[in-house]
Amino acid sequence: MLKKAEVMQALSHVQATDNSSNIVDAKHVTNVQIFGDEVEVDVICTQPTLHIKKKLEVDILKAVHEHANPKAKVKVRITVPEQFAKKAEQIRGTELPGVKNIIAIASGKGGVGKSTITANLAVALAQMGFNVGLVDADIYGPSMPIMFDVETERPASIKVDGQSKMEPVESYGVKLLSIGFFARNNQAVVWRGPMATKALNQMIRDAHWGDLDFLLIDLPPGTGDIHLSLVQAVPVTGSVIVSTPQPIALADARKGVGMFNMDAINVPVLGIVENMAYFTPEELPENKYYIFGKEGAKHLSTELDTPFLGEIPIVQSIRESGDVGRPAILQENTIASKAFNEMAKNVVSELVKRNKDLPPTEVVRITTMAGCAPKKEEV
Ligand SMILES: Nc1ncnc2c1ncn2[C@@H]1O[C@H](COP(=O)(O)OP(=O)(O)O)[C@@H](O)[C@H]1O
Ligand SMILES: [Mg+2]
Repeated sequence: MLKKAEVMQALSHVQATDNSSNIVDAKHVTNVQIFGDEVEVDVICTQPTLHIKKKLEVDILKAVHEHANPKAKVKVRITVPEQFAKKAEQIRGTELPGVKNIIAIASGKGGVGKSTITANLAVALAQMGFNVGLVDADIYGPSMPIMFDVETERPASIKVDGQSKMEPVESYGVKLLSIGFFARNNQAVVWRGPMATKALNQMIRDAHWGDLDFLLIDLPPGTGDIHLSLVQAVPVTGSVIVSTPQPIALADARKGVGMFNMDAINVPVLGIVENMAYFTPEELPENKYYIFGKEGAKHLSTELDTPFLGEIPIVQSIRESGDVGRPAILQENTIASKAFNEMAKNVVSELVKRNKDLPPTEVVRITTMAGCAPKKEEV
C-alpha cells in the first residue's frame, strides 16, 4: 500500500512546466488519490502543447516508479488552466486572413517523392471539395510548375484593396505559386538566406489566396533556413513528413520530425507518409516487391509515436504523370489514386484531431538556428 507522503516525495522530482521549481513546490499537484497500488495524480500544466503535456505525464510516471513503487499503476490527469490556454488562443488564426490551415510537407532526404506526394495531396483535397493553395518553396528544385503543367505561366499582378498582389496560377482546382515562376533555369539554387526567405514570404503574404481551407507548402529537403523562415513567417498548423522505407531516408526523416518537435519550433507533426513503399506492376497489383525494405517508415512512425498517414507504392504511372503534368490521382480507380486518396483522408482526420486537441501554433520568434539546436534525443 502506497502512502500519500511517499507519492508527494516522488513527485517532487518532477520539474514544473513553467520551470519555476518542482511540481509539488510549484503547487501544480492539485490532488493525489491512492487505491492500493493505484495512484491518481491531478496536475496543472502551464503550457498547452501536446508534447509538453506528454512529457509531464511520462515524468510523473517515471518518478513514481523510481521513487515510490516500481509496480504502481499511475493515472495522470492534466489540466491547463484557462489563463495559459488563453495565451495561445489570443493568436488564433493563421495570421493570414482567409487561410484556415497551413501544412508544411517536408522530407529529410531529396528525391523521396515529397513533391509528388504534395501535388497529389493538393489535388486530392481539392477533389474532396476543399479550397486548396500550394506554395512550392523548394529552392533546390521547384517542380510544381511541371507537375501541374503550368511551366510557361506566370502569376498575374492584381490590385486588392489598393495593394498590389500576385494572383496564383490555378491548375486542377489548386491555386499555385512556385519559386520556379520567379527564378528560371535553376537560378534559385544559388539563392541563399535572405533572397530565398524574401521570396517565400512574398509567395505567402503578397498573394491573393482568397479563402483557403489548406495552404500546402512544399519545402526543400532537409532541415535548413527555409524551414526556419517558414515557421517564423506564419504559424504552421501541422507538418507531414515523407520518407521511403530505406534506412538512410528514415534517419533523415527522424531529423525532420525532431526539428518540428523542437521546443523552439513546436509545429505538430500530423504524420509520416511512406512513399515508394513497394513496387507493384499495374497489371499485377497483387505482386508487391519491397525493393527499399518493408514498412520502414511505418515502424518509424510507431517508434516516434507519430501517426502513419499511408503507403504509396512505386508505380510507373506516378512517375509518368508527374513528368507530363497531370497528377496521378486524376486517373480514377487506379492503385495510385486509391493510395493517394487514402493518404489525403488520413491527413484530414489527423488535422481535425490536431485542431481539436491542440491550441494554434505560435509563430517562432527566433532569428537564428543557433539558439535552438535540437537536443540529442530529438534528432
Ligand atoms: N510512388 C512513386 N512511384 C513512381 N515514381 C515516383 C513515386 N514517387 C516519386 N516518384 C518519382 O521520383 C522522382 C522524385 O520525386 P519527387 O516528388 O520530385 O521527389 P522530391 O520532391 O522528394 O525530390 C520523380 O521523378 C517522381 O515522378
Ligand atoms: Mg521536390
